[in-house]
Amino acid sequence: MTETIRGQTGTGETRAAGTAHGRADPDPAERMSRSELAELQLERLRETLHHAYENVPCYRRKFDAAGVRPQDCRRLSDLANFPTTTKDDLRENYPVGMFAVPQERLSRVHASSGTTGNPTIVGYTERDLDIWSEVVARSIRAAGGRPGHKVHIAYGYGLFTGGLGAHYGAERLGCTVIPASGGMTERQVRLIRDLRPEIIMITPSYMLTLLDEFRRQGIDPRSTSLRIGIFGAEPWTTEMRAEIEESAGIDAVDIYGLSEVMGPGVANECVTTKDGPHIWEDHFYPEIIDPATGESLPDGTHGELVFTSLTKEAMPVIRYRTRDLTRLLPGTARPGMRRMEKVTGRSDDMILLRGVNIFPGQIEELVLRQPGLSPHFQLELTRSGRLDELCVRVETEGDPASGDPGASTTLATSIKDAVGVSATVELVAPETLQRSVGKSRRVVDLREE
Ligand code: DLL
Repeated sequence: MTETIRGQTGTGETRAAGTAHGRADPDPAERMSRSELAELQLERLRETLHHAYENVPCYRRKFDAAGVRPQDCRRLSDLANFPTTTKDDLRENYPVGMFAVPQERLSRVHASSGTTGNPTIVGYTERDLDIWSEVVARSIRAAGGRPGHKVHIAYGYGLFTGGLGAHYGAERLGCTVIPASGGMTERQVRLIRDLRPEIIMITPSYMLTLLDEFRRQGIDPRSTSLRIGIFGAEPWTTEMRAEIEESAGIDAVDIYGLSEVMGPGVANECVTTKDGPHIWEDHFYPEIIDPATGESLPDGTHGELVFTSLTKEAMPVIRYRTRDLTRLLPGTARPGMRRMEKVTGRSDDMILLRGVNIFPGQIEELVLRQPGLSPHFQLELTRSGRLDELCVRVETEGDPASGDPGASTTLATSIKDAVGVSATVELVAPETLQRSVGKSRRVVDLREE
């Protein structure tokens, strides 16, 4: 299968034959039929359950308490009888209690970007790192990347999985890597101008910051060498995709992943369809459960995404609850692999305001649909007396005084209509709100416990 990217020559198609290093063709697994894949999944699942039960005391205790043994998994659907794993299990076993191999077999550790409580440490054997590079290479290829492309990586390097995960995957594909990491935005612009990468890997919110910096330096972002952006690590809406594609003149593709399961590259969107990330199901088995009851839900139903790793050695995860809300859909560009609907919210980002559940993504959609407003916004929650209040602070595109005087009322009305809550809208001048250099922080909750 060959991806085509928008309006390009000399990028996707012409270099598809590959270069001295890297491989241009999709993995054989990407072409598997559903039944071939299911057979492979079952075999790997059974091995993983045994590996976890025998080597990780936490899994042994949980399986014993639930009265299940690895050998009870005879069909893929039997997995639903096994207990789920949560972030709390990982925290309680901090730092290395979830590892299934002795420390000498670990090649690397990373940490999840949790902001509350103990962080969680994740580990990889050499083989885990090899598979991780393979799935990220597969992800970049699905996004339209080819051997010989230059990839500018602006995900943070370090304990966060974004930078190094993207890095080794891009190298594996045979790309030239520019390991910019996050921050020093002026320098990012300079590197892009001087080194002329075709691909950028970055959080969508940091891309907005970068676009502003291009304009500040008098450069039209559409005139750069960039053709493909691979965006992830935080929720972003289809409206944000349209905004970024339009302002940067690129294809914007979604990459999904989480440290506990691997890092970036658990799933990736194909540039030909842009219809939600295809999950690399030969390595990560997805399920959807009802977040309140834990009950398994059929494909097509919205709920919480749960993953079981199928090939991980150092830290196998069994039914790990991601807290990401989405649904599973049939494969399209990779017919054998299911897709996940773009994640636009996590259960922990949900704001409960006067009994109404709100996700920042819902507000993002409305802000971006309204002309004259920029994509930079922040949600501030306060409490006055017993009443919770929401203030939506949005930067205008130009001077707020000379823009549409009814703009804030229009946005407040659309929030009331679409989301069902009354909010105060405050329009602020460009460059007022704090900029993201990594994962953005949209919600400021000033309510007291
Ligand atoms: O953010 C891994 C990653 C790095 C993914 C770079 C993609 C690109 P964590 O720091 O463990 O790992 O955070 C994982 O980020 O559970 C989601 O809530 C969110 N997330 C990641 N990718 C997406 C995405 C990395 N494409 C958490 N859309 C996940 C929405 C995403 N949310």
